[in-house]
Amino acid sequence: MSTIEEILTTMDYGKAPEDPSAANAWLAAHPQLEHFINGTFKADKGEALEVHNPATGALLTKAPMASGSLVDEAVKAARKAQPKWAGLSGHQRAKYLYAITRILQKRSRLFAVLESMDNGKPIRESRDADIPLVIRHFYHHAGWAEIMEEELPGHGPLGVCGQIIPWNFPLLMLSWKIAPALAAGNTVVLKPAEFTPITAALFAEVCAEAGLPAGVVNIVFGAGETGAAISGHSDIDKVAFTGSSEVGKIIRRQTAGSGKKLSLELGGKSPFIVFDDADIDSAVEGVVDAIWFNQGQVCCAGSRLLVQEAVADKFLEKLKDRAEKLVVGDPLDKSTDIGAIVDASQLETIQSMVTQGQAEGATLWQPSATLPNQGCYYPPSILSDVSSASTVVQQEIFGPVLTAQTFRTHAEAIQLANNTRYGLSASIWSETLSVALDAAARVKAGVIWVNGTNMFDAAAGFGGYGESGFGREGGIEGLLEYLSEPAPKVKPAKPQAVDFSPLPAGANESDAIDRTAKFYIGGKQARPDGAATYTAYSAKGKPISQAGLGNRKDVRNAVAAAVKAAGWSASSPHLRAQILYYLAENLEVRREEFASRLSLMTGASAAKALEEVDTSVQRISFYAGYADKYDGKVHSTLTRHVTLAMNEPIGVMGIICPDEAPLLSMVSLMAPALAMGNRVVMLASQPSPLMAGDLMQVLETSDIPAGVVNLLTGDHSAMAPTLADHDDVNGLWNFGPESADLDAGSAGNLKITWTSTADWLNPASAQGKRYLRHAVQVKNIWVPYGE
Ligand code: NAI
Ligand code: MG
Repeated sequence: MSTIEEILTTMDYGKAPEDPSAANAWLAAHPQLEHFINGTFKADKGEALEVHNPATGALLTKAPMASGSLVDEAVKAARKAQPKWAGLSGHQRAKYLYAITRILQKRSRLFAVLESMDNGKPIRESRDADIPLVIRHFYHHAGWAEIMEEELPGHGPLGVCGQIIPWNFPLLMLSWKIAPALAAGNTVVLKPAEFTPITAALFAEVCAEAGLPAGVVNIVFGAGETGAAISGHSDIDKVAFTGSSEVGKIIRRQTAGSGKKLSLELGGKSPFIVFDDADIDSAVEGVVDAIWFNQGQVCCAGSRLLVQEAVADKFLEKLKDRAEKLVVGDPLDKSTDIGAIVDASQLETIQSMVTQGQAEGATLWQPSATLPNQGCYYPPSILSDVSSASTVVQQEIFGPVLTAQTFRTHAEAIQLANNTRYGLSASIWSETLSVALDAAARVKAGVIWVNGTNMFDAAAGFGGYGESGFGREGGIEGLLEYLSEPAPKVKPAKPQAVDFSPLPAGANESDAIDRTAKFYIGGKQARPDGAATYTAYSAKGKPISQAGLGNRKDVRNAVAAAVKAAGWSASSPHLRAQILYYLAENLEVRREEFASRLSLMTGASAAKALEEVDTSVQRISFYAGYADKYDGKVHSTLTRHVTLAMNEPIGVMGIICPDEAPLLSMVSLMAPALAMGNRVVMLASQPSPLMAGDLMQVLETSDIPAGVVNLLTGDHSAMAPTLADHDDVNGLWNFGPESADLDAGSAGNLKITWTSTADWLNPASAQGKRYLRHAVQVKNIWVPYGE
């Protein structure tokens, strides 16, 4: 026993252990977890995984591993339950969600203790962060169920959702997945991570207690194979995944061409930027929260410190002082700051990455205190003397390890921040609002925290740019990921057989072929690489012109031009509106000429052809009108915060036009993409390439900056794969047949993809806000205020 005097001298924390007896009793009653399928608990005699407490190594329980046929049983139960669940009124669904919420609240202490035992996170975090956010999520989405019909008319549920979650925030990730899915009228099959299945099992009991109809929520246990059985199941309409980018890409490829809706919330290497005019002490606390919360096992961890040179030494000194005082140890002790790493394998990963960092020249700093002598612990660590090329700066460590770099200028800070394939979050510190907000606008990430970090709320969207995935969770952005769009179903047009050979034998060049169309690349008409061409025929089968036959090189040239035209994405909506109006006007001036060309190519009557041109003019004008009106939102999140949901352009988009309605389909896709600030590389209609040639001339006279629109003609199957694979293309719209190859190709840099069809003359199908929604990604910027 230390004397009071000793305690006062050392200022050591006294132990404040949380009582685990209720959790232990629950575990004693559950030596092996059971799947929850169709409203009943199902024992599984097959192989089971041991579930350990990483702080002690103690065996907590065992979890079965669902086989493919069990997953199938769960999917069938979800399928059967879905129509009735969706048929309930929003108010009735809300009542169930509220009931779940209330039981969660009642049992929050048990949930928190079990979560800490299973995952190793400090009880202070599970009690004060995880569980309250879980409750907030169910509450918020109960509200969505109530108001959905009012707010989102015409939207409907998707059906059965397969949901796969990680181990870092087990119950919280479950709530992010299940609450919106249920609110929207879907049913779910969810698999928790193999390291942390316990709170999902307890949640299944909550569902049963709340009287949730059988089959609405199904929970199956297992590892990657079970996950793959879910994401690969043919009767699942949507897959929602949170976890590693590696598995995210596997799932993107696995679901390729299936038409399943997909949202991926993956890793990150998020910057924590400290400008020299930041409130240094607050920023130091910010780092503690950014990288040492949950042992750094956080997808949005601020793992890359970028600090302005002038304050760097002082900052790091303060940070080290602070890290010296962090308490690493027993997760169930209320004074613990850093608990245990989830599993020995994760601890090894962290150790080996740090060793690699050192081998590459990094300097490792760790506090002087020793770690507990048993359990999976890793100290708060800082790696300095690193550069952007260092492995530890590029790759997610997923542990309590911060890399530290310095910068001199604002521009350099942005450049370093964006030098990553990820784009999940960023934390930006400056007392000068203009500096902070400028950085917030320029850093490529889905979530930006100004003078703060780890701000979360169910009312705001969360999710990333780039290889951090796509789709959002939370708020209306997240809800839309679980809803079908209000648009008439359109059958894809029959693909036309197109002959891509050059001049037919015996054709008389001088009279049959009036000119050779070129491509439009970087604001100029460009000859195809290798001068390859194919013959365009009239509807009557007469050769009418030569058109460029694009290849991979042409696609790469067009993408390079689009990349250079970045100014468009930063231009004002007013400017974009004006240019689109001008484009519409210039097209209208030539309506007869376009109509007669259309008639010639497609065989449309003169009246029909004029209708297509006039609708094209109207459609461009429509999106010109929208350029400055597709507003973001200010989400109603925490008090004394504004959370700005900004609609940002996706960047460079590849657009594969359908064969039909060659003019109208092309402008119907081009205009919304441009209105939202994207630059496009478009593959024009295959059988009617001349429309692209004609449109180029209009584009040339319409003040569209070079590289903003790039048009290629030819065989889509020769060009589209290059678009899908290209790392500088950020989004892909495929208005051709569903393509497994293109979806799979897009996995490389996790492009945002959209495969669809439209009835081009019908505005309910071919125009509207949903085109704009697919042309943007939402960035949520959190700005706290107050003294
Ligand atoms: P993981 O991505 O393998 O696991 C996440 C979930 O996916 C688990 O439920 C797992 O069973 C499931 N899964 C695994 N393979 C699957 C497949 N082929 N198909 C369907 N589901 C599959 O992550 P893991 O191995 O636990 O951690 C490895 C690394 O991933 C970490 O070191 C960290 O860098 C990163 N990670 C990122 C997370 C995030 O929130 N962004 C969360 C967890 C891990
Ligand atoms: Mg565990």
